[in-house]
Amino acid sequence: MKFFVDTADVAAIKELNDLGMVDGVTTNPSLILKSGRDILEVTREICDMVGGPVSAEVVATEAKDMIAEGLKLAKIASNIAIKVPLTWDGLTACKAFASEGHKVNVTLCFSAAQAILAAKAGASFISPFIGRLDDINLDGLELIEDIRTIYDNYDFKTEILAASIRSVNHITDCAKIGADVITAPPAVIKAMANHVLTDKGLDQFLKDWAKTGQKIV
Ligand code: E4P
Repeated sequence: MKFFVDTADVAAIKELNDLGMVDGVTTNPSLILKSGRDILEVTREICDMVGGPVSAEVVATEAKDMIAEGLKLAKIASNIAIKVPLTWDGLTACKAFASEGHKVNVTLCFSAAQAILAAKAGASFISPFIGRLDDINLDGLELIEDIRTIYDNYDFKTEILAASIRSVNHITDCAKIGADVITAPPAVIKAMANHVLTDKGLDQFLKDWAKTGQKIV
């Protein structure tokens, strides 16, 4: 399973990247706003740091304008994945980008039907948003399962990039289902290291070690 980091916070990406945890990065307009940075500048900085795909999202809503924006974003670096929304115009732009050999991440996917269209339009990645479905009492993980089944049935090459991840359980559940990639905020990836029994066990070991009066270095 590949790990993408869902942020435009360069310091947070660097910390995880230095540990070899980063296979790619996803950004979106809200994350660019949160970073307070210029989209072209921050995306270039991320692309210089990370070898894998870095998703940069278009904001136009008509295909021809999306294509102009996407081609500009693609010029930032060779590892850009152009991110387009799952609308008819987004699919049109996806097909145009894919035909020219660009990687495309089709985002804001909330149904298996949408995921089929993205695969047929040549998307490299489909981004189903788990957390936002859970937020409205639908089942985000069930969507990942459905897309996995459908893509496997027809040998679609589009990778399932599970997005809108809110918890460690989301990540392990996606791994069990067979999502190709997860994209998660840095804090959720770091929280994967936590376990109450690890903390309790370490606490006991340290107390016992102190009683020995020994030192290792
Ligand atoms: C994915 O590419 C999106 O940037 C992201 O996962 C959305 O997550 P959110 O629903 O927590 O905003």
